[in-house]
Amino acid sequence: MYQDCRGLEITAASQEAVEAFDETIVSYLSINPSAGPNLKATLDADPQMPLANVMKSYFFMLMATKPLQERAQKAAAEARVLAEGANQRERLHIEAAENWSHGRKRAAIAAWEAILVENPLDVLALRLAHHGHFYEGDGQNLRDTVTRRLYAWTPDTPGYGYVKGMQAFGYEETHDYDSAHRAGVEAVEHIAENPWAIHAVAHVHEMRDEPDAGIAWIRENEPGWTTANNFRYHVWWHRMLMHLDRAEYDEVLRLYDEDLWDPESDEYLDLVNDAAVLLRLELHDQDVGDRWLALAEKCKGHTHDQALAFIDVHHAISLAAPGNGDEQSLLEAMRSYAESQGDDNAQITEAMGLPLARALVAHRAGDFDAVVETLLPIRYHLHKLGGSHAQRDLFNMVLIDSALKSNRINVAKMLVSERLGRLPNNLWTRAKAEAAGLAA
Ligand SMILES: [Fe+2]
Repeated sequence: MYQDCRGLEITAASQEAVEAFDETIVSYLSINPSAGPNLKATLDADPQMPLANVMKSYFFMLMATKPLQERAQKAAAEARVLAEGANQRERLHIEAAENWSHGRKRAAIAAWEAILVENPLDVLALRLAHHGHFYEGDGQNLRDTVTRRLYAWTPDTPGYGYVKGMQAFGYEETHDYDSAHRAGVEAVEHIAENPWAIHAVAHVHEMRDEPDAGIAWIRENEPGWTTANNFRYHVWWHRMLMHLDRAEYDEVLRLYDEDLWDPESDEYLDLVNDAAVLLRLELHDQDVGDRWLALAEKCKGHTHDQALAFIDVHHAISLAAPGNGDEQSLLEAMRSYAESQGDDNAQITEAMGLPLARALVAHRAGDFDAVVETLLPIRYHLHKLGGSHAQRDLFNMVLIDSALKSNRINVAKMLVSERLGRLPNNLWTRAKAEAAGLAA
């Protein structure tokens, strides 16, 4: 029996394989494109290593597309064959991979949490539990799953800076911005190449409506996040939100063309970022030209994915924009998936994804009454879709826009009033306050 760099027992054929797996975890935690090659090196060193086979399944699931989900199932089945020689922790990982790849995400989260009770230093289980809670919209567990392990960690434990980065994001999503900022800065002091921690602090500045400080933070820390895989686009996206907050629209469009848009990328987070910033630009009354066309073309290929309702609702935005009706195929695919499948995401699709997608399509069609009628009753439940407060804020902006455009002035007043309470100096909010007849 070998041990990993945190002293956890690991079933492997050689120390070389264990070290390659440790490297795989570091590249996963630093969101570095070397994660795939490092996993391949691990499997080359030991094709029968249970956790390496599990990791293959996890990596496919993290890509969140239908074809890769099928490959994740296959990898989990291959890992299952190795369960007999695996230890209890590894068997729970195999169980998690099977559950996740078959759409039982909550059971996968339960397996990661069970691993962490006995093995609080299992940073792979921790990162995946954090990811799982994020897309469950469970902010408290996003924070607490990290904090309840910290009794076992010291600043000298390998990877401590990544764990503090996760904790920072959990604090941010539970509105504890001071603690989030402190944990995020500490994380980056420990590990400079730490995109998740840098990103967590960017969220803090976004939520506090501090675009100057946020842009400065993102720029100062460029060496620590531009090394990331496509996740680096998401950090660009955060910077663009802050330029929007400063009404620097030309800069947002320039960043879209030069730094955000990747014609080669088909990754879900990129498609989500692109849709979310284009629609925000339009909500700021900016013309985005023909940028929707190329984005919608990419999203068309994901019409039948239904990997996460959160992703589908963004595809609905992009597919509806060119006005050729392609969004109807997506709505139909979501409807039939919600009715026919029993997995966790199907339930969320039915309860939240489908109504929200329909509302976003109605917004594009100019049916603002329908948007208000659909979103007003469910807006406090939309966190169940997962994603961050910053990402879901788009839906609130669409609702405010629709309340104003459908002349529901009292509804607009209350929504804008809420927003002013949180963001008293935000330019967009103040413009909407004026439109609603509020003294901002
Ligand atoms: Fe983010």
